[in-house]
Amino acid sequence: VSKIHKLFIPFLVIQMKLLSATPGKIVCEMKVEEEHTNRGGTLHGGLTATLVDVVSTAALLYTERAVPGVSVDMNITYTSAAKIGEEILITAQILKQGRNIAFASVDLTNKATGKLIAQGRHTKYIGS
Ligand SMILES: *[C@@H]1O[C@H](CO)[C@@H](O)[C@H](O)[C@H]1NC(C)=O
Repeated sequence: VSKIHKLFIPFLVIQMKLLSATPGKIVCEMKVEEEHTNRGGTLHGGLTATLVDVVSTAALLYTERAVPGVSVDMNITYTSAAKIGEEILITAQILKQGRNIAFASVDLTNKATGKLIAQGRHTKYIGS
């Protein structure tokens, strides 16, 4: 008999400000709130992954006018923590856009110090 584990994911609100959108690049800003953090009080790694996904997809939509499809590959390197109350910048850049596939890079940095929090790479199918 296997044990059943229940995972409760609390209601999540992410409020982001779009700071700039130029061809192939967008910059967003958000503040780390308590509901974005892990038990250590810093930005949850799964949420960082969600931000990499969402903001790189937005860069494709807003600046490349591409129709984003499914993800092929995504990875994240975590370099430093972001604490509650800190403002972070999320910069997504489209590295290359082919006919069917787009490659993006996303940097999360501390707005005040410029310190790199995480860097993600995202490869996605695009429609036409
Ligand atoms: C993340 O993915 C990119 C593109 O596939 C790759 O070049 C890079 O080495 C990967 N990084 C890690 C840490 O795996």
